[in-house]
Amino acid sequence: MPNPALETLMLAFTGELNLPTPPRTLFLGAEPHDTLRDWPNLLGWQPHKPLAHAWETSGFHRTDAPSGTWPAILQLPGKSRDEVLAGFANAWEMLEPGGSLIASMSNTAGAARFEKDLSKAVGGVTSIQKHKCRAFIAVKNHDAPASLPADWKSGGERKPVPNTAFIVEAGIFSTGRIDPGSQLLADHLPASLHGLVADLGAGWGFLSDALTRRCPGIRRIDLFEADARALECAKLNLAHSSTDCRFHWHDVTRGLTDRYDAIVMNPPFHTGQATDIDLGRAFLKTAAASLKPGGQLWLVANRQLPYEAVLETSGLSWRNLANDGTYKLLRAQSPHSSR
Ligand SMILES: C[S@@+](CC[C@H](N)C(=O)[O-])C[C@H]1O[C@@H](n2cnc3c(N)ncnc32)[C@H](O)[C@@H]1O
Repeated sequence: MPNPALETLMLAFTGELNLPTPPRTLFLGAEPHDTLRDWPNLLGWQPHKPLAHAWETSGFHRTDAPSGTWPAILQLPGKSRDEVLAGFANAWEMLEPGGSLIASMSNTAGAARFEKDLSKAVGGVTSIQKHKCRAFIAVKNHDAPASLPADWKSGGERKPVPNTAFIVEAGIFSTGRIDPGSQLLADHLPASLHGLVADLGAGWGFLSDALTRRCPGIRRIDLFEADARALECAKLNLAHSSTDCRFHWHDVTRGLTDRYDAIVMNPPFHTGQATDIDLGRAFLKTAAASLKPGGQLWLVANRQLPYEAVLETSGLSWRNLANDGTYKLLRAQSPHSSR
């Protein structure tokens, strides 16, 4: 089953509740589903590029910035606490009087706790439990509050990583601290990196920021990131830099068009909540295919992740330059002659 939370969400319309198809619907965290195919006036918001691509190629309409008011809002609310509660607060604000918010989450993402929070805030929800997920329906009745707790909404606003000037937003990678793996990589980046450089899975821009400060010979950095919210933060975090930085909302597994003198990355190894080593492997393959002859790949990863084999089958030579208790730092190089 591709996404059990989505299947459970759709049960509100196909299962025992059998809700009518709404006349207009906003879907936050939109993912395609056959049940939605004939819905009128359906608009989706989806910050993750691969899912946004799947939504659009399934023929649905997408917005980068949801607005207006709606009689129905569907929501797959993400996973961090601040992100989920801010998501509820923002959705609630966009509901018309009498409108319904229908959210769905997996039990492992804390569905029971979030359902309880929402139920308490709005005065009760109707719940469906299936596929190890919960879908819950909250109606904005005349006796329901016009808005949800102010700290829910403010928890989703951009703010600095504690003790730094870096701006982040709830739900993106590493909002509470600098990732120690990324720090290990930044600490070892040589000042000699130069030319055209790519940062794959750039997040809110930590590694690119280190490159701009450390490496005067860099002509341009291309940041590739799937999460549109992280990329917007990266733009803010690199606004001061005199290095030419370009920002690409892009699924790295689909390859790159340019070739690079150097590539840096701390590849993702999670899809949603599940460990997905293939995602990291796909990043390595894209990097190997995108280096100029003699180009260098600098990457950090959890020590147990078996990335060295991918480097070898991709024709790169590699060295392990550093380890700490959790991470390893690898430097790989493509052959000097053209492949
Ligand atoms: C481990 S984080 C590293 C972030 C940043 N480079 C840092 O060091 O703080 C991996 C990043 O890859 C992004 N990501 C996940 N899947 C992606 C994909 N298919 N294409 C591009 N970026 C992706 C995630 O959103 C996340 O920001």
